[in-house]
Amino acid sequence: MDKMWSGRFSASASSLLDEFNASIMYDRKLYKEDIEGSLVHAAMLAKQGILTSDELIEITNGLSQVMKEIESGQFEWNIHDEDLHMGIEKRLTAIIGDSGKKLHTARSRNDQVAVDFRKYVLKKNLEIVGKLKLLMQEIIVVANKHTQTLIPGMTHLQHAQPINFAFHLVAYLSMFKRDIQRFEDSFKRNNISPLGCAALAGTPHNVDRDMTAELLGFDEVSVNCLDTVSDRDFALEILFNISTMMMHISRLSEELVMWSSNEFGFVELSDEYSTGSSIMPQKKNPDVPELLRGKTGRVYGSLMGLLTVMKGLPLAYNKDTQEDKEGVFDSVDTAEISLDILKEVIKTMQVKADNMESACSVGHLSATDLADYLVKKCNIPFREAHFITGRAVAKSEELNTDLSKIDFKYLKDIDDRINEDVMEYLGLRHSMNARTSAGGTSSQRTKEQLEYFKNFLKV
Ligand code: ARG
Repeated sequence: MDKMWSGRFSASASSLLDEFNASIMYDRKLYKEDIEGSLVHAAMLAKQGILTSDELIEITNGLSQVMKEIESGQFEWNIHDEDLHMGIEKRLTAIIGDSGKKLHTARSRNDQVAVDFRKYVLKKNLEIVGKLKLLMQEIIVVANKHTQTLIPGMTHLQHAQPINFAFHLVAYLSMFKRDIQRFEDSFKRNNISPLGCAALAGTPHNVDRDMTAELLGFDEVSVNCLDTVSDRDFALEILFNISTMMMHISRLSEELVMWSSNEFGFVELSDEYSTGSSIMPQKKNPDVPELLRGKTGRVYGSLMGLLTVMKGLPLAYNKDTQEDKEGVFDSVDTAEISLDILKEVIKTMQVKADNMESACSVGHLSATDLADYLVKKCNIPFREAHFITGRAVAKSEELNTDLSKIDFKYLKDIDDRINEDVMEYLGLRHSMNARTSAGGTSSQRTKEQLEYFKNFLKV
């Protein structure tokens, strides 16, 4: 079968080459972007007098027929055509004849693929933002109900200080907000048109790059063609943005897995989003958060893969670059379904507030409050207060009780300067609500933080 580029060749390509060289099996996903790019390119060529108005009409009609054929499943994707660009152009020419052969004037597949892939990635940056916002809304619904629910705040996975469950969830809202900003920043930075760069050096034809940029919805025209045709930063950025987002999702998933264990019992995932065991009839497994955690690894793989593909490429386009697409497609699909399903898991899970609160009764969560009390009320230097509190903790352990419930007389024995009002300060709810510094866990501060994220989602 004849290749579009076969003019200088005397032997035809081996089928092994076709199989190895082709990207059409996966880059066909970009058909809409490709046809839109061609429609705009043709319109510009006609305006510049490079195509006649009749040729433009033929090309436009032909391309819309190709689009219909693709969408109805009639289009024959053929590996011998190598990639979607040549597959579509070949079909166009078969439908409309010679004017189809003029479409590629002042264009190369190098700027064509840069347009298609960039457009796809830009669109996906925004779609993912939309899904992240829906997830944040669902987290806010749960958080609204739990600004008073005590849960052990941890460091090193050891009980540290009492916080409320909403405050814990707001930490994830903070991460997802940063993710949204990263996707939006990437969109702004990369919304630049490659069309008209041709192979690498621009074109001697009198093209209007501003016109095609505007019609395609790009903010501006790229500055240097040599860079533009080999630039895949936009693809690396979405991979990094997805990787970071998945890292956040994975951390939340890890907590969901732990929280749904018997040992924690803080949440119960709904039946709809849990799985059973083929052998153990009693099991209800958190497969969804586990898979979210697992898929994060695969997304990181795509990021490392493309960074590695790009690192040794001399300017400008090299065929290595064709390896940019599958990892991005896979990561985008993974990101989208992950956000959809995590949102449902959060929406349908049951929060076991009683278990969260009873988990706070061990681990001396208000120990720091005793030290702070000694500093504030007894004017004891913090380092000494820390030591005295350590003794009080040791005494509580000896008595097999939690510091928040120790009999006052033992504290008095340890240090005579302590007064009975200390018991109020050791109360867990008091401890949580005492942390009123900006960004702190008190219920009031947590509500303010929730307001902040609600406002963020409104704009
Ligand atoms: N299928 C190619 C890719 O995805 C399109 C660009 C090919 N250009 C070339 N000169 N071989 O990168």
